[in-house]
Amino acid sequence: MRYLSGIQPSGLPHLGNYFGAMRQHILRQRGNECFYFIADFHALTTVREPQALRSFVRELAVDYLAVGLDPGRTVFFRQSDVPEVTELAWILSTLTPMGLLERCHSFKDKKAKGIEPSHGLFAYPVLMAADILIYDSQKVPVGEDQIQHVEVARDIAGYFNRAYGQALVLPEHEIEPASASVPGIDGQKMSKSYQNTIEMFATEKEIKKRVMAITTDSKGVADPKEPEENTIFRLYKLMASAEETARMAERFRAGGFGYGEAKAELLRKILEFFGPFRAAREKLLADPARVDHVLQDGSRRAREVARAALDRVRLASGLA
Ligand code: ADP
Ligand code: TRP
Repeated sequence: MRYLSGIQPSGLPHLGNYFGAMRQHILRQRGNECFYFIADFHALTTVREPQALRSFVRELAVDYLAVGLDPGRTVFFRQSDVPEVTELAWILSTLTPMGLLERCHSFKDKKAKGIEPSHGLFAYPVLMAADILIYDSQKVPVGEDQIQHVEVARDIAGYFNRAYGQALVLPEHEIEPASASVPGIDGQKMSKSYQNTIEMFATEKEIKKRVMAITTDSKGVADPKEPEENTIFRLYKLMASAEETARMAERFRAGGFGYGEAKAELLRKILEFFGPFRAAREKLLADPARVDHVLQDGSRRAREVARAALDRVRLASGLA
């Protein structure tokens, strides 16, 4: 299967990004052909600081490699290193009904949050469709919030094929139900834009601060508690073994297990789980040339595939 996914370099990666997206990407590497990229063209819709964008791109590249992206197996690249994708986005945009984009939740949400809606933000799903279609992607592993965008890409591929013949592969999203929506410290979906994240590679002190700030109800230590209702447990089970998870659930239900103690266990688990990745990240930070080389090589491989798809599209639509 050909897999493709992208993550925007619009902040520092958090547990939601890891469990909702990056981990799935890493797991799919075995036995599949994977294309993963850093969506810097997309990040331009919200990041206006050139220095911040550069450093988010680098951080995301390092973090992806640290959590197990294998550039020997996977084509790993930066979106803007394959400018062909913007040409395809234009061609696709001429077939995309306005109404399809007006219905996209992510655009409506961002607008509601007060982000000035630029044309780029509105047209974002068309660029995402081009990302997917230009690599003939079959499966797109994403978190719940991106399913609609993958469906838009599929719709757009359908419009193209009906207008010009069967030139594009129809993609499907793929979701991991256990981590489709990771909660943030306030219990809502974890997201950079809600300031409720726990960053994967924050300092130990910072992670502790965030864990201790997790919102809980007012039950006392002695009270029995329903584990599935609390954020501490929901985060813990993403990292713990089945036995550890069952044990924490039991302790919550029995009573006598307070939120403070549960938070301390969660903190230990986060540090233990991300410890090996943290060590790998330190090594990569010390070797920037290696990271540059990986991205350059990935772009070259990605560009070959993109060029072939774009030539097909140009021919089908009469541009060539
Ligand atoms: P954010 O909401 O923090 O801006 P992004 O939109 O950049 O995150 O998401 C990058 C990837 O991580 C997407 O595939 C998205 O579905 C996934 N993701 C982000 N937050 C979560 C979450 N809380 N739970 C599950 N997946 C998530
Ligand atoms: N829109 C995605 C996000 O915010 C990032 C993205 C851009 C993407 N292009 C993509 C994801 C193509 C999957 C496939 O997370």
